[in-house]
Formats: sequence, C-alpha cells, structure tokens
Amino acid sequence: MDMYDRVYVLWTMGNLTLGSSDTRERIQKVAKRNPDTFLVGKINGSIVACVMGMNDGFRGYIYHLAVDPKYRLKGYGIRLMHELHQIYKQLGILKIHVLIEKRNKNIQDFYADLGWHNRDDLLIMSFIPDEEAYTRNALI
Ligand SMILES: CC(C)(COP(=O)(O)OP(=O)(O)OC[C@H]1O[C@@H](n2cnc3c(N)ncnc32)[C@H](O)[C@@H]1OP(=O)(O)O)[C@@H](O)C(=O)NCCC(=O)NCCS
Repeated sequence: MDMYDRVYVLWTMGNLTLGSSDTRERIQKVAKRNPDTFLVGKINGSIVACVMGMNDGFRGYIYHLAVDPKYRLKGYGIRLMHELHQIYKQLGILKIHVLIEKRNKNIQDFYADLGWHNRDDLLIMSFIPDEEAYTRNALI
C-alpha cells in the first residue's frame, strides 16, 4: 500500500475511469485478497507500470493496467502482462477476463498481440446494490 499514491497517479495518467472503488481503503481490501497478482513495474526504483489482477478462485480478472506515458510503446505493458499470465497459470486459473470501455476499444490490439481474443457471445450487465456508496468519475 505504500505504492498506492504513485499507482493512483498512473491510473489518472492512463485516463482510466476511477471512483469510489479505488480509494486506499478499498484497494487495500482487494490487495489483501489478491496478494500475488497486484503487480508494478519499476525502472531504477520508480514505478512506471501497474496492473491489478484479481480472482475469485474460478476466473481471473485484470483491472487498471497502466504504463506511464513517458515509457509507453517500449514493451513494458506486454512484459507486465506476460508476468501476470504466468502467475495465473501457477495459481491454476484457467481463464482471465478484462473489461474494456468502448471509448478505449483500440486497446483490443494490445490484448490481441498478447493472445487474448474478443468475445462476441457475452454481454456484461451490472447492478449497484448501494447507489449512495458508488461514484465514479465523469469520463463516460
Ligand atoms: C495499454 C498500455 C498499458 C500499453 O502499455 P505499453 O507499455 O505502451 O505497451 P507495449 O509497448 O507493451 O505494447 C506492445 C504492443 O501493443 C500495442 N499497443 C500498445 N498500446 C496500444 C494502444 N493504446 N492501442 C493499440 N495498440 C497498442 C503496440 O502497438 C505494440 O504492438 P507492436 O509490438 O505490434 O508495435 C498503455 O498504452 C496505457 O497505459 N494505456 C492507458 C491505460 C489503458 O488504456 N489501460 C488498459 C485498460 S483495459
């Protein structure tokens, strides 16, 4: 959690949609449940990349992958994801999903390079049990 502030800046620079799920307290909770799959990439001690892998024991999920804009297109995103793939393999997770916002759909090329495939047989639906507790930024 001592990396939280810097990681939050990376998420912001990545233009990711952030909200009440991304507070220090909530991230600490999910980090405790997923100690092996919250990864950062460092160069000379500075954090330049991050991804949160989570799993429910059945499927894996990834959230908030981001590379510092100064270090993009140098292969670091791919390296971080390869590392995460290996960890999921060791954990025995058979399939990993990512939710991609439609405004960011070009990113499919990045995942396709990594061997991920599109699903046109699935739709995502969401329900918010506590509307008062849930907020997100206004990007979409
Ligand atoms: C997505 C992201 C993490 C990629 O990191 P990166 O270190 O720049 O990626 P890499 O250098 O490892 O990219 C490797 C390949 O993916 C492609 N790629 C990278 N970013 C891409 C993008 N935004 N759109 C399309 N393709 C992309 C590259 O062209 C490269 O392909 P090539 O080897 O054929 O040239 C980075 O662009 C980022 O932080 N984006 C903002 C946050 C975001 O959208 N996260 C994903 C949420 S689902």
